[in-house]
Amino acid sequence: MALQLGDAAPDFTADSTEGPIHLYEYLGDGWGVLFSHPKDFTPVCTTELGEVARLKGEFDKRNTKVLGLSVDSVESHTGWVGDIKDATGQALNYPLIGDPDHKVSDLYGMIHPNASDTLTVRSVFVIGPDKKVKLTITYPASTGRNFEEILRVIDSLQVTSGYSVSTPVNWHEGEEVIIAPAISDEDAKEKFPKGFRTVKPYLRYTPQPNR
Ligand code: BEZ
Repeated sequence: MALQLGDAAPDFTADSTEGPIHLYEYLGDGWGVLFSHPKDFTPVCTTELGEVARLKGEFDKRNTKVLGLSVDSVESHTGWVGDIKDATGQALNYPLIGDPDHKVSDLYGMIHPNASDTLTVRSVFVIGPDKKVKLTITYPASTGRNFEEILRVIDSLQVTSGYSVSTPVNWHEGEEVIIAPAISDEDAKEKFPKGFRTVKPYLRYTPQPNR
């Protein structure tokens, strides 16, 4: 069965462009993003890997390690790295796993046989400090991902994991969050000293509490 939210992220050791990676050691006690690519030397993947390199500082700020994967070998990845720099201006600054035997792809259900028997689809897994899966997204090979959206979700996960709040549609870091309906107004006054505004009894906004 496919990995679901709240499942333990399967641990593994695999070869990468930065040497052997042991997932749990690599993540330490921070957050992680594991994302797969269908194949080396392909156009959409090239743009994605460059974009994640450009955003690496943003992931670092969020105490989040990034880890890419493609079913080709590390030797093949090493040849591709120069192209990524030429095409996007970004040097690869995070590890890219080689997975020719599909060990990691199978563990994470990254191969979808109705799309391809051999190539991974564009999967994204966000893993929390408790090593549980917090987000899964699957894109088809033909659609490049929006990694700014992954950062936005990590911002939301980091605030909602620490407070009894959720984040509204299109929310971005710094904007108001929603107080959990289970919290009474009386408790909300104590828990959210910056105050709150009530739109409906079940929809109350408060300034982002962790800023
Ligand atoms: C690409 O990265 O452009 C790509 C890879 C595999 C299938 C389709 C597109």
